Amino acid sequence: MKKMIVANWKMQLNIKDSLSLTKKMLQQLKFSSAQIVICPDYLSLVLISPLLKKTFIALGAQDSAVAEFGAYTGEISAVNLRQLGVKYVILGHSERRNHLHENSAIINAKIRVALSQGIIPILCIGEKLTERNNGEAESYLNSELHRALKGIKIKRARDLIIAYEPIWAISTNHAARPILASEADRIQTFIKKKAQRILKKKIAVLYGGSVNDQNAADFLAQKNIDGLLIGAAALQIKEFSSICSI
Ligand code: 13P
Repeated sequence: MKKMIVANWKMQLNIKDSLSLTKKMLQQLKFSSAQIVICPDYLSLVLISPLLKKTFIALGAQDSAVAEFGAYTGEISAVNLRQLGVKYVILGHSERRNHLHENSAIINAKIRVALSQGIIPILCIGEKLTERNNGEAESYLNSELHRALKGIKIKRARDLIIAYEPIWAISTNHAARPILASEADRIQTFIKKKAQRILKKKIAVLYGGSVNDQNAADFLAQKNIDGLLIGAAALQIKEFSSICSI
């Protein structure tokens, strides 16, 4: 499988800047051996969707709802995302778990709806610094995998992706610090093994957290790092292009 480079633009750009960044990417990134995915905010996504048709850049969303349709004020349906050409959706990002109190049951429901629409969920999991310092990272990740993936069935390995994002390594967190690529690989080997046991498929696992053009090659060189989920560094065209051309 091709390595994946997923850009999570979060809520960092206005619509004009999102369009401009997309156009620059289409002009400057002529080729990448990786599958590139960009995840703009919902409003920009509507305008970006036609620009990406028949290009090598795939469209992703940053979240989707727990149901296909219904009385869910303010929510966005995976059905509509699919109609806009969305192929991937980030689910369970730590910022949503933290600011919006999303729990595993909600994330599980969102995964089910996304899968039913043929959208590939990118399930984010990651431990807090206290869990890491207490030597509880693996047990936390294992139970989170079990909760988020409870009862989930997929037909093909590529129907679902996991992203390991240690919360303490995300650049916007206070005192964030990068993880060593070898340590990320060790934890991802563990995640892969556990996910395979639950889903009966060999699932791709991406790494996210303070990835930049200086360390991306180290992460991508690891055996069990199948790609990157990038926040801040994906907002700079020069930096993102250099990561995509590794
Ligand atoms: P940074 O790359 O800015 O650390 O963000 C990681 C992230 O949260 C991507 O989803």
